[in-house]
Amino acid sequence: MADTETLVVFDTDPGIDDAMALLFLKAQPSLKLAAVTTVFGNAETDITTRNALYLTQRFGIDAPVYAGATQPLTIARRPAPTFIHGNDGLGDADVVNGFSAKPAEGHAAERIVEIVRANPGRVTILAVAPLTNLALALQRDPGIATLVKDVVIMGGAFAWGGRRGNATPVAEANVHNDPHAADMVFTAAWPVTAIGLDVTSHCVANHDDAADLAESGEAGRFLWDISRGYEELYRRRNQLDGCCLHDVAAAAYLVAPELFTLRSGPVRVVTEGIAIGQSIQKLDEHTFGPNAWDGHPSKLVAANADFAGVVESYKTAVRSLG
Ligand code: BDR
Ligand code: CA
Repeated sequence: MADTETLVVFDTDPGIDDAMALLFLKAQPSLKLAAVTTVFGNAETDITTRNALYLTQRFGIDAPVYAGATQPLTIARRPAPTFIHGNDGLGDADVVNGFSAKPAEGHAAERIVEIVRANPGRVTILAVAPLTNLALALQRDPGIATLVKDVVIMGGAFAWGGRRGNATPVAEANVHNDPHAADMVFTAAWPVTAIGLDVTSHCVANHDDAADLAESGEAGRFLWDISRGYEELYRRRNQLDGCCLHDVAAAAYLVAPELFTLRSGPVRVVTEGIAIGQSIQKLDEHTFGPNAWDGHPSKLVAANADFAGVVESYKTAVRSLG
């Protein structure tokens, strides 16, 4: 690997926007994928793993796929959102039917630890799914916290842009799916940058963008095929002309951080009650009496972004794949 390349572990639950993000990553010459690690979320782990294997094989992505957690740390597994990502996790577009392959040996959490230990200071973990694998990796070896380069997360809804939850009125889906893991990841002594709904729900690739990309080659055509129902759902539920690029936005931060406005302060996640899964940042410049954020390290949270710039970088990436 060249010294200028960032080594990336992509932790994911493919997932339609996860597939978009993986293809976005493939198009980035400055990034080298060290592994794709899978977890439950948009579908069960056997399905998300199968999908990750399908995507890496079909698009010639040279990275091992390791299967990870099948359920949250503490709460019961919530039902998969088949009404969003389909029964097969990829829009029921009949692309993965009949495909079977085995993931590489080893649990995702164990491999995350090994990859970080083998490459101190060089690995960015990009997590766009429930944070269970990252929490398990920290439990297994807390020392990795000081060895990662960065942990970038698609997760959370911090209300900076007035945007709250998509899983509940206050909780974003990845955090809501395993709030205990998310709280562990946000309070650990490693750098974390969270790209939450505040930003990602405004990064919309519209219908015409998707149609243009479908004409640009195999990657664009594939993404068009798997996102027909996803796009329709956004039209019905959110009155949007297109799809939110949730996971792509977090991936875009790796190559174009200047597109994002970040705020610094410790983050906690609500782990019980009606607000379970809510993510809350206390800004560094705000002082309060003793509270649950005291003593926890500051994290970076995206409060705003050049939304059009994120969408443009996605279109450029998909077009470049042909
Ligand atoms: C996040 O939840 C999943 O459904 C998407 O893939 C994305 O990672 C958005 O809240
Ligand atoms: Ca995802």
